[in-house]
Amino acid sequence: MRRNVVVSVLALALTVFMGVSVAAAGEVEVLHWWTSGGEARSVAVLKDLLEKEGHTWKDFAVAGGGGDTAMTVLRSRAVAGNPPTAAQVKGPQIQQWGDEGVLADLSGVAKAEKWDEILPKVVADVMKYKGKYVAVPVNVHRINWMWVNPEVFRKAGAKVPNTWAEFEEAAGKIRAAGFIPVAFGGQDWQESTVFESIVIGVGGADFYRKAMVQADPAALSSPTMVKAFERLRSIKKYTDKNAPGRDWNLATAMVIKGEAGMQFMGDWAKGEFTAAGKTPGVDYLALPFPETSEYFLFNVDSFIMFKQKDKGARDAQDAMARLILQPKFQEVFNINKGSIPVRLGMARGPFDEPAQRSMSDFVATAASGGLVPSMAHEMAVFPEIRGAIFDVVTNFYNSDMSPAEAAKKLAAEVKAAR
Ligand code: BGC
Repeated sequence: MRRNVVVSVLALALTVFMGVSVAAAGEVEVLHWWTSGGEARSVAVLKDLLEKEGHTWKDFAVAGGGGDTAMTVLRSRAVAGNPPTAAQVKGPQIQQWGDEGVLADLSGVAKAEKWDEILPKVVADVMKYKGKYVAVPVNVHRINWMWVNPEVFRKAGAKVPNTWAEFEEAAGKIRAAGFIPVAFGGQDWQESTVFESIVIGVGGADFYRKAMVQADPAALSSPTMVKAFERLRSIKKYTDKNAPGRDWNLATAMVIKGEAGMQFMGDWAKGEFTAAGKTPGVDYLALPFPETSEYFLFNVDSFIMFKQKDKGARDAQDAMARLILQPKFQEVFNINKGSIPVRLGMARGPFDEPAQRSMSDFVATAASGGLVPSMAHEMAVFPEIRGAIFDVVTNFYNSDMSPAEAAKKLAAEVKAAR
């Protein structure tokens, strides 16, 4: 016993002498927008794991689906010289924060945890600034989903749609039976979430890339885009009068409760069904958005970390980054969140059928060219261009602007935002 004590004191002295530091407990203030039922359950998993390692989690939740409010708050905190320790920031915006020179270098933890080996290269590249990891990815969400209440469809005698014509037919029957066909949240990001699924369904992956990733004026003003606007307009007649301003999770609740037949939303909606104790294939159906089964609009959540002077805070950041990519967290978090793991090689068994389908489709669409980044969820273009697209889509949806005029405006406003 005594001998052990001496040995460990010696080991400690040696560690200090060699400059190897012992991890200190610290606080992480984490900015995120995960405030719905399913989202809150998911983020709680990370908080618990960090607290088990002795660190303190200071929650900085800014409500607002899609995260635009959170990003505004983050910018004002950063401008005031007081950013949080970590923030949910995605896609090309990571490079913009890198340009500011405020991000912490996560190379140490990335190397120790072999991030280059456990992450798909396309994802890893987005997490690096000038070759160094400055962000940690959490998951992969798919946008182009349709969430169905089978009981409502049954009562209305409607068939679950694969094509646009079938959607219109089913929606008409559901309305005639006294239900709301489409649970819709009238907020700009939700309108654009639905719109980008329409765009890929109408135009295919190459057209989507030209329009929504390269922001090509010819694609943006094309007849294909006019057709996409026509479809968006046709959804409106199947929504209820309380849709304007409605949060996405309240729209999901309408499907869960059997007030509405379906919702078009990314698979964070599945987190709401899961939190409500619902079983896929029984209480609800998760299917691709009409005419998009061969495409996968992806959305990867990630956290950037800001430079810290305090060693405890730096150690807490490293711990958070390490824990996020560990298999246990990847499993439990993604089951709650409705997404699939971003870490490669995870066992599929614990995941439900929609998640397993997503895993297969992710691989299949990566091979076929059908895997494309979500514009609405900040994977594809810089915020200025995304903002211009959102403006045109929401102005169109909430007015009587013609589809032809909307496509023309889209090209013009995107050009002005460049
Ligand atoms: C995020 C999801 C989130 C959703 C709704 C998306 O942009 O990637 O994690 O659940 O917005 O807030």
